[in-house]
Amino acid sequence: MKILFVVTGGIAEYKVVEAVRFQVKAGNQVKVVMTQMAKQFVTPLTFATLTNDIVYDSFEASTENPVAHIALADWADQIVIAPATANFIGKMANGIADDFASTVVIASTAKKRVLPAMNVNMWNNPAVQRNIEQLKQDGVAILEPAVGALAEGYSGKGRFPDAEIVNAFISEPVEKTATTFSGKKIVVTAGGTREAIDPVRYIGNESSGKMGFALAQKAEQLGAQVILITGPTNLTLAEDSSIQRVNIKSVADLQVALERAVQDADILIMAAAVSDYRVAQVADHKMKKDDFNGELEIKLVENPDILANLKRPASLKYVVGFAAETNDLITNAERKIQKKKLNMIVANDVSNHQIGFESNQNAVTILRPNHANVELPQNDKTVIAEQILKLIDQEIN
Ligand code: C5P
Repeated sequence: MKILFVVTGGIAEYKVVEAVRFQVKAGNQVKVVMTQMAKQFVTPLTFATLTNDIVYDSFEASTENPVAHIALADWADQIVIAPATANFIGKMANGIADDFASTVVIASTAKKRVLPAMNVNMWNNPAVQRNIEQLKQDGVAILEPAVGALAEGYSGKGRFPDAEIVNAFISEPVEKTATTFSGKKIVVTAGGTREAIDPVRYIGNESSGKMGFALAQKAEQLGAQVILITGPTNLTLAEDSSIQRVNIKSVADLQVALERAVQDADILIMAAAVSDYRVAQVADHKMKKDDFNGELEIKLVENPDILANLKRPASLKYVVGFAAETNDLITNAERKIQKKKLNMIVANDVSNHQIGFESNQNAVTILRPNHANVELPQNDKTVIAEQILKLIDQEIN
């Protein structure tokens, strides 16, 4: 793969040095274009040394090739713009080619990937968001920035994501972007279960279903055939969605639906918050306050661990569990990955109300046997979903 990095001027450039190094070590041919601003942050010599080539920064750069911008544009299988400044994104979205880097980008028909990194207020600026939308419509792949501490002391969305996420995004085969999971059947469970006490009362939990829905929708976008088994939620799917939705309430319902759905499935992602206990004797009529002497005891019995006990068909190659914890996150997740025989567990700290259950955002740690843990910093659940699916893709495809 011939990868052309276009480096524009931002502090996240030092992280792009690592990304370039990773792609060179992975056996790719890599060349680097820098804007004039970019050279203020990292010296061209750094990239030149890593790529064993000159760094291209002006129309006069190469005497052996008088039309360097066209030669580079034609050479690349993909162009990676990282970090992408608000200015450069604006130029790309509007077809402006007023320097060497932007001219190379406009002259190329190669797949383009943009990795924006900037201050949170710049990122949220409506003009920048409009430009990002335009790029998406133009078929440009965008790796949304992460949320967290920013170099200038701000905190918010704008950070250049961690190396593992960046490397996975750049390494994704060009022709696979929309068809990563085509021909694959993925079962996702979402939301919380309800265990009836009587016909109108139940024991439930705070799960909103948002993480599971995001996973199902992203998997669909990536070409999978998706079955979404969900507990009660207000969330809806688009009218033209191909996702097969199965509504359940209790753990018993979930077990029946899941056993049916996983037949010939390739991947199971168990994001549902499953009740560990159910009511031993569900009352067949609405219980009356006066039936008890100011004290009501309800006996609970343990539910089966659905994930641990699931009969896995031969087609099922990859099983993902979730671990929502309030303490000892990693230790508990490590125990569960073994006990439930998982390929991956997504651990999140639900004691932090900025993230998790009701929130649109999440921050998780991914654990896999024989892999270093991967931190996915706070971001929209749709972004976290995409990052999880890309890690799964790396392992099964
Ligand atoms: O043990 P814990 O409930 O924390 O495990 C979480 C994972 O196991 C989740 O993926 C959840 O969907 C699944 N689970 C299950 N059956 C249960 C409890 C949890 O499949 N009874």
